[in-house]
Amino acid sequence: MKMWSGRFRQPLDPEFERWQRSLDFDRRLLGYELDASAAHARALKSAGILSPEELIAILQGLEQIGERAAASAVFLDDPEAEDVHHFVEKQLAALIGDVGYKLHSGRSRNEQIATDLRLYVRAAIDQLRHELSKLCNAIVDRTELAGDAAMPAYTHLQKAEPVLIAHWLLAYVEMFLRDGERLADCRKRLNLCPLGSGAVAGATLPLNRMAMAQSLGFDAPTANSIDATSDRDFAVEFVDVLSLLAIHLSRWAEEMILFSTQEYGFIGLPETYSTGSSAMPQKKNPDLLELVRGKTGRIVGNATALLVNMKGLPLAYNKDLQETQQLLFEPADTMLQMLPLVTGFMKSVEFHQEAMERAAQSGFMNAWAGATYLVNRGVPSRLAHERIGKVVALAIERGSELHELPLAELQKISPAFRDDFYDSLKLSSVLALHDVVGGTAPERVRKALGLAREKIQSLREEVHAHA
Ligand code: ARG
Repeated sequence: MKMWSGRFRQPLDPEFERWQRSLDFDRRLLGYELDASAAHARALKSAGILSPEELIAILQGLEQIGERAAASAVFLDDPEAEDVHHFVEKQLAALIGDVGYKLHSGRSRNEQIATDLRLYVRAAIDQLRHELSKLCNAIVDRTELAGDAAMPAYTHLQKAEPVLIAHWLLAYVEMFLRDGERLADCRKRLNLCPLGSGAVAGATLPLNRMAMAQSLGFDAPTANSIDATSDRDFAVEFVDVLSLLAIHLSRWAEEMILFSTQEYGFIGLPETYSTGSSAMPQKKNPDLLELVRGKTGRIVGNATALLVNMKGLPLAYNKDLQETQQLLFEPADTMLQMLPLVTGFMKSVEFHQEAMERAAQSGFMNAWAGATYLVNRGVPSRLAHERIGKVVALAIERGSELHELPLAELQKISPAFRDDFYDSLKLSSVLALHDVVGGTAPERVRKALGLAREKIQSLREEVHAHA
């Protein structure tokens, strides 16, 4: 039986009927649909609509539906069911008879789908935060192994200043921890229960909304039935957060790809996450990294598509909102598949620390430290910059590094140069110079590492608290 056939004299065009169905993709919401239906059934019993026996029959029926779905995927292949809500109603009536049709008393699919999707996003957030904590841990482990080894940092993709490899890796940890926080923030805002909102104006029966909310782990009921049935902000926020996370991963992937080239030679691609070429026998290609970068486009596309779907929708529910489902599922699936692979890659990628250290000592990346030496000797910064610029020009002319220039030559450029200038150019001095919170001086990086560990630990604890 359809959920709405009474007022219709003609059957649906069969192609239209097939085309407008959502069961193919909303079947994955079945578990949430069953939980939400159980909460609604209990509220119906408290409101005097269901007898205690009827409630038990419905709850048992819902449980059986869950068991059958778990036992066999084809159970959900019901060509007559319009969507997961209709599917449950049909199955319930088949299992327990007409009492099953009492479940829908006083509720609407509009509040149901809004509820199911919130439950889905909440669970996805918890899983994603768990995966993020594992990724951050893997990066921090690599950070520890890197010790005080240095590498070049780039601006404009030109060699800029040496940094600790650990400092570079911790930059990614910061990004991913922010992504974790954004997910938590999104979770906080979405954790309100639409049940009892009805189709648009609120339930037509005196349902205890607080009890329904609590039984599903929501903080409270939503405040406005019109908003609750038409709101998909949580989906937009969630996919936006995922697109920013995807962009972080994409930047990471791009950098790893660059660093794996023979021209850089900073990292060795793990064979377990690379592929070869069918034509060129020597090739080892960074497929994982490229696919991570490539999937970002789709995730950002989904975020945009979700926004455009909502644009211009009059309040409240419109069937357009059915289209938000796949736009939401796809990026969550992609991210949940991708994060463990990225973690695996980070655990097994090789860092060629000697090559990185070597690269950290060429290209005049100690020039600013050289200027700082002059500043400390009282030369005004702008003039110090100018003088060291001249020293760099001289070194370029001679094909040497700064420390290879004789003192006599340097003193022609500025009388402030002394013998100890050469110490200030050493890699260890240059690193130590950046002795501020958030800087790359080894002691600062060690502290940052400890703090990152703490932040990851609290992320893990929050995830566990929600499990
Ligand atoms: N399958 C629908 C969706 O995803 C469920 C809500 C249907 N509501 C309605 N009034 N037709 O949006």
